[in-house]
Parts: sequence; structure tokens; C-alpha cells
Amino acid sequence: MSNKPEINLRAAINAISDVIQNRPRPLREFDQIYMKAGDMVLQSEIVARWADGKSLAFIGDGDAISVCVAYLKRKGILDYGPKEITVFDFDERICNAVTRFADAERIETLRSVNYNCLEAFPEVGSFDCFYTNPPWGASNDGASVHVFMQRGMEAIGNQGEGMIVIADDHEIDWPQEVLGTTQKFAIDHGFFIQKMVSKVHQYHLDDSPELRSCNLLIKSLPSNPAISTSESITDPARLDHFYGKDQAARIRYVKEKSRVDYGKANDSEYELDYL
Ligand SMILES: C[S@@+](CC[C@H](N)C(=O)[O-])C[C@H]1O[C@@H](n2cnc3c(N)ncnc32)[C@H](O)[C@@H]1O
Repeated sequence: MSNKPEINLRAAINAISDVIQNRPRPLREFDQIYMKAGDMVLQSEIVARWADGKSLAFIGDGDAISVCVAYLKRKGILDYGPKEITVFDFDERICNAVTRFADAERIETLRSVNYNCLEAFPEVGSFDCFYTNPPWGASNDGASVHVFMQRGMEAIGNQGEGMIVIADDHEIDWPQEVLGTTQKFAIDHGFFIQKMVSKVHQYHLDDSPELRSCNLLIKSLPSNPAISTSESITDPARLDHFYGKDQAARIRYVKEKSRVDYGKANDSEYELDYL
């Protein structure tokens, strides 16, 4: 017998489908590459169980796992989940999509903050746990992963738990190197590795459709001192190649130009040829 809770799979998939309809289209230049729908269902259940009753910060969340987790609980498909969720993302389209969905579905436990993780974190120590699916650091040995992790650690004031979603492929060199530097970064900052669940998600990634990611779970050591401050990050070694080779972090925010209904075709996509 499995000790995993049973969920109504049809209801859960339909709920995730509502979230996907509301999601902005991904900007590849900022490593927005969305997780596939089936994996989103399973991931949302895992995150809801892991963060049950806790306050959870998402450091970036193009995938909209935050929205799925909150919505599954709101609809009663899951009877567990975080008590509150905040999404910090530099893309205003993503923040607005979160807010719009939360308003429409009356999810009072879900909010978003337009925030660039190169700047000082605005709510240090306000959360119990953090989740991040960052740029995967293929061209900088994981330095971009570590920036997002640092902000997650600050969100929990260095005390609590984190779930980091990064590339996991044991045939290619760079994901293994990044897994190594990332686990070292966690240990160097007073955390230990609780668990690594290998190769559990796939993405809409045209140039590498087989590349999967893992859930890396970390927890602070009881002796880890609490922190209450945060600073901006300016070290070029951490910012060059942030989104890939020669793609440094230079953009503060992605701003939403006009409100688009993402679930419907845009006028600019088609024209009508009359009888
Ligand atoms: C980089 S993507 C990683 C892939 C992931 N599957 C996704 O698409 O969400 C994760 C999120 O980080 C956000 N992001 C990228 N650069 C950021 C930055 N400098 N500060 C805050 N958020 C950022 C993106 O907008 C996106 O929502």
C-alpha cells in the first residue's frame, strides 16, 4: 500500500488546465521554459504536502506551480497545502497573472510581488519555506541558481526549508556540475540536503526535450544563525552568463504592455478570409 494520498485526478488535471490558460507566454531569453502539464499536477501535490500549513515564498514562478497549489486547495481537490503563498518575480505579466487568478477565484492566500532577485530581498525572514525553479546555470556553473537560492534563504531568514528545481541529467556534464555546486552552496550556507528526487519533470524545451529536472530539498541546520538583512548583488561573476552564454542579467523588470487574455487567440495572430 502506498502512503500517498489519493486525489481526484480528473478534477486536478482540469484545475491545472485553468491555470495554464491564464499563464503568459514564456520568454526564452530569460529562461522561461514551462513544465509539462502532467508533471505540474504531480509537482503541485508534492509541494502542497511538503508546505502544508506553512507560509511559502516562490522565488520566480513562470510555471505557476504557486497558483496550482493554492487553487487545488481552494477547490477542495486537496485538503492540505500552505497557509499562504507569495510569488516574487521580475516579470510583471507573471505577477499580474497570479493576482488576476487569485482575484477571480477568490484565493485570499495567494499574492505576488514584482521583484528582481538582484536587488535586496524586501521581506527577509517572513516565510517558513521557499520554492525556486531558477535559470539553471548551464553557462556559469550554477551561479544563477545560487542567486535565487540566496533570496529563498533570505525569505526564510536562513531558518526553514527550501525546494530547488534544477536540471538533472546524469549523461551530460553541466547538470552534474551544477548539482555539485548547488549542494555545496546549500551546505556552505548552513543547510543540509534532505532529499533529492531525480528526473521528475519535463519541459516544453524544443532544443532539449528530454532534459529533466529534480526536486532538491534542503533544510537549515538547527545551529544556523537567523538573518534579518539583505543586499543587492552586483558581482559580475554572478551576473555574466546569467541566462546562458553571454546573456548577462541586465533587465530590472519585464513590464506588461497590454492586458492580454492568454486563453484566447490574439487579433495579431490571424485574419479572416471572407466567403
Ligand atoms: C527563469 S524561469 C526558470 C524555468 C521555469 N520552468 C519557469 O519558466 O518558471 C523562473 C522564473 O524566474 C523569473 N526570473 C527570471 N529572472 C529573474 C530575476 N532577475 N528576478 C526575479 N525573477 C526572475 C522568470 O520570470 C520566471 O518566472
